[in-house]
Amino acid sequence: MCGIIGYIGKENATPLLFEGLRRESYRGYDSSGIVVFEEQATHYVRAVGKLEKLEEKFANNPFSGNIGVGHSRWATHGNVTEANAHPHADCKQNIFVVHNGIIENYAALKEKLEKKGHRFTSQTDTEVLPHLIEHFFKGNLEEAVQKTLQLVKGTYGLAVIAKEDPEKIVAARLSSPLVISVNSGGGFVASDPAALLSHSNKMIFLDDKEIAVVQSDNFRVTDMYNKPKEKEIVELEWTLEEAQKGGYPYFMLKEIIEQSESVKNSMRGRILTEEGRAKLGGLQQVEKQLRDIKRLNIIACGTSYHAGLVGEYMLEEYAGIPTDVDFASEFRYRKPIIDKETAFVFISQSGETADTLAALKEVKEKGGLTLGIVNVVGSSIARETDAGAYNHAGPEIGVASTKAFTSQLTVLSLLCLFLGRQRQMSLVMGQRIAKELARIPELIPQILSGADNIEKLAQKYRDARNFLYVGRKYNYPVALEGALKLKEISYIHAEGYGAGEMKHGPIALIDENFPTIALCPSDSVYEKMVSNIQEIKARNGKVIAIATEGNEDIRKIADDVIYIPKIFEMLTPILTTIPLQLFAYYIGVLKGNDVDKPRNLAKSVTVE
Ligand code: M6R
Repeated sequence: MCGIIGYIGKENATPLLFEGLRRESYRGYDSSGIVVFEEQATHYVRAVGKLEKLEEKFANNPFSGNIGVGHSRWATHGNVTEANAHPHADCKQNIFVVHNGIIENYAALKEKLEKKGHRFTSQTDTEVLPHLIEHFFKGNLEEAVQKTLQLVKGTYGLAVIAKEDPEKIVAARLSSPLVISVNSGGGFVASDPAALLSHSNKMIFLDDKEIAVVQSDNFRVTDMYNKPKEKEIVELEWTLEEAQKGGYPYFMLKEIIEQSESVKNSMRGRILTEEGRAKLGGLQQVEKQLRDIKRLNIIACGTSYHAGLVGEYMLEEYAGIPTDVDFASEFRYRKPIIDKETAFVFISQSGETADTLAALKEVKEKGGLTLGIVNVVGSSIARETDAGAYNHAGPEIGVASTKAFTSQLTVLSLLCLFLGRQRQMSLVMGQRIAKELARIPELIPQILSGADNIEKLAQKYRDARNFLYVGRKYNYPVALEGALKLKEISYIHAEGYGAGEMKHGPIALIDENFPTIALCPSDSVYEKMVSNIQEIKARNGKVIAIATEGNEDIRKIADDVIYIPKIFEMLTPILTTIPLQLFAYYIGVLKGNDVDKPRNLAKSVTVE
């Protein structure tokens, strides 16, 4: 997500900070900033947009110094503005903080600090950190950081410098990566090893709840209570590009693997388990209006459209709201009726998809209430919608959407909980959905641990020229999504179908060379799925079943089985989709395709 860089040493920090930010820029960002100390002076510059904007500002007023920190921000709390860009400072501009992650209890901390007279200048959660450090600062920065972090709830990778204790950078980590390197050039801190590789390949990776004090020629690491920790110096053998991919061969694989984390980020701070409710801050301003809404219309393209279809099942079954889903590219041509009783939900990873944006503008012109489920903060769709919920899935670089999809499903589940509890959903059902949703990040690694088996299946089926994907109810849209993944990554023809539609035509295609992937978790339509699988087997079709752990019977009819853990029916798509992503990935790689940049496709489709 965001990028952190810090330097202390004999060199001029400024070009090193810019270089580090540039090397981290592949992760995506919307604003950036640096602060550098030079004897008595503090040089502080921030800018919205590309790094060139920051460089332009710097060029108009250049400076140098031997210690500094820099940051590229991917907005989460607060809009994309200069005031919200990092570094953030305390009241006296003594302490400067760059931070990745989310401070969940920032509102409570901010209120207390404001009562003590601290003045805040941004809408970010991060800004509580410099003020809290200021509150504890008595001349020793690491001591103040330790005390601060003991009060903070949430996640962080952070680097802090203080004008009044200027011989060090203090860095800390909790669930957000941070690496340090002290070499002949000086002391470095970064959120991404890629930013440091040009200086050294010897790095120290901080673990959760560790605090590092980095100086120009040494470092020490302690726990949160100043107890020293032994750290291994790791020698990386990565090229720069490999480092950016975190050691994975492709961004797509990295993004599939990080879904446990991205799903967790999408739900962080939003589930109120005891109350059986979801808290979606971005919907607060329209909460009352939403109570009176009689119908929803979801509008999106591609993978986001498939997420919308899953949402339709969720919202109708558990929130009791009639829901339609439209391709954005078709929506405008059917002369839609925009009434006050309908809310229009636009789903988009990039927030820039031309068709979705055009549909949004049409609804706005006709006075409809518009909501967004968008990953890229500050993107056009995020800005144009009346209200919404961000995905917080982090930048998705692979063209094939993977972690954005599971994040969209997570946010749609939260929306269902939010709207459901405003309506018919009981407390007990709300609590059940909330609890089950919270389990998902723990379940995803169980599926990922079966990746080798999925790779073997990819080898077995790689030469098939056509695939059918079938599912029912919640997993019908997953069948569509699985087929889309395979098409775009492997260039193999694949069809996604509602399993009940098989008899109405597609079953004519089935023979021993036309494999089917059948989504059949143990749910309310399982028996019907088994009948469909039998029909395929009766025509000599090969079947790979995606089934629930413990279901041994399915082995008797399917040729191959991939298991997913048991979960509440409505949430099965978040799990069943992951093996399909891996299957498409491995076949694409086996075919020698560039799975991050499949032919003829763009990450963001900005033409209609
Ligand atoms: O950025 P969006 O979510 O609006 O993009 C919509 C589609 O272009 C996108 O999902 C596309 O289908 C992906 N390549 C699918 O992997």
